Amino acid sequence: MPDRYDLPAGFRWGAATAAYQIEGAVEEDGRGPSVWDTFTVRPGVIRDGHTGAVACDHYHRYPEDIALMKGLGLDGYRFSIAWPRVQPTGAGAVNPAGLAFYDRLVDALLEAGITPLPTLFHWDLPQALEDRGGWLDRDTAYRFAEYATVTADRLGDRVPTWITLNEPFVHTVFGYAMGIHAPGRTLMFEALPAAHHQLLAHGLAASLLHERGLEVMLSNNLTPVEPATPSPADATAAAAYDALHNRLFTDPVLLGRYPDLAALGVPDDIFGAVRPGDLDLIHSPGLDGLGLNYYNPTRIAAPTDPGLPFDLVDIPDVPHTAFGWPVVPDGLRRLLLGLRDTYGTALPPVTVTENGCSVDETTTPDQPRIDFLAAHLDALAQAVAEGIDVHGYYTWSLLDNFEWAEGYHQRFGLVHVDFATQKRNPRASYAWYRDLIAAHRSRCAK
Ligand code: FCB
Repeated sequence: MPDRYDLPAGFRWGAATAAYQIEGAVEEDGRGPSVWDTFTVRPGVIRDGHTGAVACDHYHRYPEDIALMKGLGLDGYRFSIAWPRVQPTGAGAVNPAGLAFYDRLVDALLEAGITPLPTLFHWDLPQALEDRGGWLDRDTAYRFAEYATVTADRLGDRVPTWITLNEPFVHTVFGYAMGIHAPGRTLMFEALPAAHHQLLAHGLAASLLHERGLEVMLSNNLTPVEPATPSPADATAAAAYDALHNRLFTDPVLLGRYPDLAALGVPDDIFGAVRPGDLDLIHSPGLDGLGLNYYNPTRIAAPTDPGLPFDLVDIPDVPHTAFGWPVVPDGLRRLLLGLRDTYGTALPPVTVTENGCSVDETTTPDQPRIDFLAAHLDALAQAVAEGIDVHGYYTWSLLDNFEWAEGYHQRFGLVHVDFATQKRNPRASYAWYRDLIAAHRSRCAK
């Protein structure tokens, strides 16, 4: 059975973070407010009232964090760019001090021999755009394309590959449908125009980045969906969930069409959001790589609540992370084989742009994280042995950070962060990942 040491030569090892989760310095150097700054101060929405105002103070401590990456021997670092640093109101004039931060970051990464892999949008929309409707407003897609252009024009001479969006599924469903994340809207399926406008933003930006000779990826949160029982009712519910979580965000980009959303009560034109020509704008630029964020499979049963076309049920008899997420490493292999079945030759090379777990250190040592990473990388190697083209793996995350609605409670880092002192402490999993990268490299060099 192939394992992680059998991953191909040239396989890229990385780690991932996101701006609002680590940077802090939310009022510095002209940064404008984002939806997360306004959401986190609403009473009761974030565990213990935590905010990302300071987070890991990475804005000031990035040299130390890059030294940690260098110590791991990373090939690449996936980070996100805060739109409200670049354009404080999401439109118009660029804030030179904001762009200068990413300029310094990119130079310092290159100096350390690490390829920067930026994500242009990891959920921190400028609040001024949210005030005009946010992703429910079609114009936000055009504003994003402009922001992508000014940012790429500054950094594109040193940054070859760009991720447009992070997980439009999670942003749409948690942010606009259920109100668990910023901007805290509770529109249920009527949130889906926000999904279409994000995909349109991706397509518009992808064309402009391609014109500049840059490669483009999109990072989707994908999950293998399994019916709870072999019953036809559970199969129907599972198909509806698969359309919502996976296909809605991947079919338009890879196939140029939306999946059938009738089971969700969503019309073909997604409540009037889809205009003639939009699917071509989303599909025709093509994708140089699909970013895959994998955490767990999803088990689905026929609905008990008549309001929803499916029920999410737990996967018993497997370990669960501190977050309560089921640990199913082989789900990653099955997901990749499923993508090939669904998309065939339309599937571009895949890069795992997030995978990792939170561990509760008050009760357990770091071993579950090492076991999690090892098992997922073995499953990845098995998918590669079955013919899937996988270019790299970026673990989530380099550092403990602000985990959205969970505040600082879920610790996903290879490096422990003491949020009172900002002291970084590499964990056992840091040494394990470093040794794996070195061992894989030396095996490939033979
Ligand atoms: C993903 C997010 C990332 C992080 C991990 C745990 O959905 O993209 O920011 O929160 O989950």
